[in-house]
Amino acid sequence: MNALSECRVAVATPGGRYDILIGDGLLHSAPAWQGLPRAARALIVSNPTVDAAYGSALQAALAPHYAGIDRLRLPDGEAHKDWASLERIFDHLLAQGCDRKTVLFALGGGVVGDMTGFAAATYMRGVPFVQVPTTLLAQVDSSVGGKTAINHPRGKNMIGAFYQPARVVCDLATLDTLPPRELAAGLAEVIKYGPIADLAFLDWIEANLPALLARDRAALAQAVRRSCEIKARVVGADERESGLRAILNFGHTFGHAIETGLGYGAWLHGEAVGCGMVLAADLSAELGLVPAQFAERLARLIAAAGLPVVAPPMAGERWLELMRIDKKAEGGELRFVLIESPGRAAVRAAPDAAVLRVIARRTRA
Ligand code: NAD
Ligand code: GLY
Repeated sequence: MNALSECRVAVATPGGRYDILIGDGLLHSAPAWQGLPRAARALIVSNPTVDAAYGSALQAALAPHYAGIDRLRLPDGEAHKDWASLERIFDHLLAQGCDRKTVLFALGGGVVGDMTGFAAATYMRGVPFVQVPTTLLAQVDSSVGGKTAINHPRGKNMIGAFYQPARVVCDLATLDTLPPRELAAGLAEVIKYGPIADLAFLDWIEANLPALLARDRAALAQAVRRSCEIKARVVGADERESGLRAILNFGHTFGHAIETGLGYGAWLHGEAVGCGMVLAADLSAELGLVPAQFAERLARLIAAAGLPVVAPPMAGERWLELMRIDKKAEGGELRFVLIESPGRAAVRAAPDAAVLRVIARRTRA
């Protein structure tokens, strides 16, 4: 393991305290796997892509700690973040006679992580689980904070639970095999932390974008560490999203509408969030909260990261219908995470007319 890029970020919530380990080669590092919940059995949940690349390494790392280790491969992709995949986890656990101490390991991106977490939250009313995120998006966001879910055809992440992992192990070396489009999708969630919480981090991302796109290990380590620090602080203050945590959904009201409206998997989650952040920043400017130049600055960075900044063609009424399902909507009124001043965000209602204006401006004629 490269000691230079190894670090630990603590997460402390009412639902659990745990560490995020970030380092180069952690899958092959014995200390990363010590001190986990003890059990006779463990189940590694993954998909064919990730299991083929990293399943054996994780199984070998866990072998000293669990007498029986199974590996389950769920179908790959956002379109499979559903009941059918969840049932496959439960079917496997029950068929193998797994008891309530069995530890689940989520090896993969946010799709595997969200589903494995939900299975862990509900199997026998709760078994321990460990996040082993292998996408940039999962390392900087989805593996941390205990949101677990599956999609419903009518809305993203509509069925789920808050359930914290026992540990998060981010092996930066796994990012080497990530397709470029997935790397860019992860950068969307990295960029997100700048405008909502840390302007100095936004400056740093702008300056280091070429290094991040080139997968410079030190730059990725810094991006993952700072993102996890910000996320740990926010979920530590508001685990169940009664207030502050909602800022982490910057761009997501528009983004989830894109994902649901186009069909799960048509755009990657990070792509939809990237475009959603452009729209949310435009809306902040439209409502007079931030200068239009700040929204343009963000749009330039998002485009430079290789993410879409042109909204997909969808009728205005369809946008509104999709966004009314959003968990932040209240009494049919749309609410968005808006930038109140550069580096600070809050949830605010916005008139439909203003929302439709910013969408129209970012939709190719
Ligand atoms: P994903 O899980 O679909 O992974 C992206 C693709 O990369 C998949 O095809 C996967 O097989 C592949 N892959 C994963 N690791 C790889 C590796 N190291 N090398 C090569 N290929 C690899 O997508 P994602 O972007 O990681 O996650 C998106 C999901 O996360 C969405 O469902 C979103 O709703 C969810 N999410 C949840 C939270 C949360 O707080 N729980 C936060 C953000 C996003
Ligand atoms: N990704 C949003 C959250 O964890 O709250």
